[in-house]
Amino acid sequence: MNIPFVDLKSQYHSIKEEVDRAVFDILENTAFIKGKAVEDFEKGFAAAIDVKHCIGVGNGTDALMIALKTLNIGPGDEVIVPANSFIASSEAVTAVGARVVFVDNHPDTYNIDVTKIEQAVTDKTKAIIAVHLYGQPADMDATLAIAGRHNLYVIEDSAQGHLAEYYSKNGGWKMTGNFGHIATFSFYPGKNLGAYGDAGAVVTNNDEYAKKARMYANHGRISKYDHEFEGINSRMDGLQGAVLGVKLKYLPEWTEKRRAAADYYSKHLKGVGDITIPFFDKQKVKPVWHLFVVRTKKRDALLEHLKEQGISAGIHYPIALPNLQAYRYLGGRASDFPVASAYQNQILSLPVYPEITREQQDYVVNTVKAFFLK
Ligand SMILES: Cc1ncc(COP(=O)(O)O)c(C=O)c1O
Repeated sequence: MNIPFVDLKSQYHSIKEEVDRAVFDILENTAFIKGKAVEDFEKGFAAAIDVKHCIGVGNGTDALMIALKTLNIGPGDEVIVPANSFIASSEAVTAVGARVVFVDNHPDTYNIDVTKIEQAVTDKTKAIIAVHLYGQPADMDATLAIAGRHNLYVIEDSAQGHLAEYYSKNGGWKMTGNFGHIATFSFYPGKNLGAYGDAGAVVTNNDEYAKKARMYANHGRISKYDHEFEGINSRMDGLQGAVLGVKLKYLPEWTEKRRAAADYYSKHLKGVGDITIPFFDKQKVKPVWHLFVVRTKKRDALLEHLKEQGISAGIHYPIALPNLQAYRYLGGRASDFPVASAYQNQILSLPVYPEITREQQDYVVNTVKAFFLK
């Protein structure tokens, strides 16, 4: 049996008529950049996560950069970023001229280890980027408390966290995007809410940040040729807005399917070999399982075995950010990030997507079991 890592084709076929019509409308109306489909999507997404403003932009990496620029972060500033994330989380910091400061991840949740943040704070620190990695919200209460003590901004990188929920001591259950000063999303095709090309969003409950982010993403414009400051060109295009608008309606249902698939894996993989199934605190988080990441000391051999049996698994991420050649200049050693450095050789992402069937999951589970019985 062949099991893909994600199945965008079967998802497209399940909504083909609606998507085709929405795309056709854009072509007919030649509303290629921004336009009504983008505006409708921005409103729809803001409503879906209960946030005041949503600004559609070119991609999730730009969204982070725009968020940092909106908060006036730049040369001379330091920004704390988790060691375990996709490079976009740190790349954006460098792109605005600030310095990246990595903090190791928590051994159970894989998110930033909040007990290690404060020792990384200096008088140059301006912000913490809280990444909701794999679709599990980061520890926002602790992150916000640290930010409050040191007068720092909090930027949520929710590229993997569409509709994920976190229970905060002050506000109860809320979706990610509501906790930091500003937050960002990616709609890369393979994300839980994926466009048919690159797309992203900046969201915030702050009117002033929303205005600045929207202007920054559109050449610092007030009106067509009146520019208050220099910005960049990072606008969501009409085709992506149209596709995302259709898909947004299905996102709650798809999210529940991911949750059911994750439950099923957890139930059936618990106690198999030396596998550690994902941990999350049910009282605090409702993850959306962008990725289902297990850990095993035999990761490379298991990955090979799955591949031989037709199962596409992945590693997110095979080299922790501080260990990448791109960050050698920071002078960090692998031993400074013991958890991320050890886990980069143990983590394995199993295929999880709304369309995965029980039969496919049983095949994955049985193939994993067979590997450990060998
Ligand atoms: C955690 C994280 N942050 C940021 C990004 C950047 O998003 P994009 O690929 O849309 O630029 C991604 C996605 O690739 C991501 O996984």
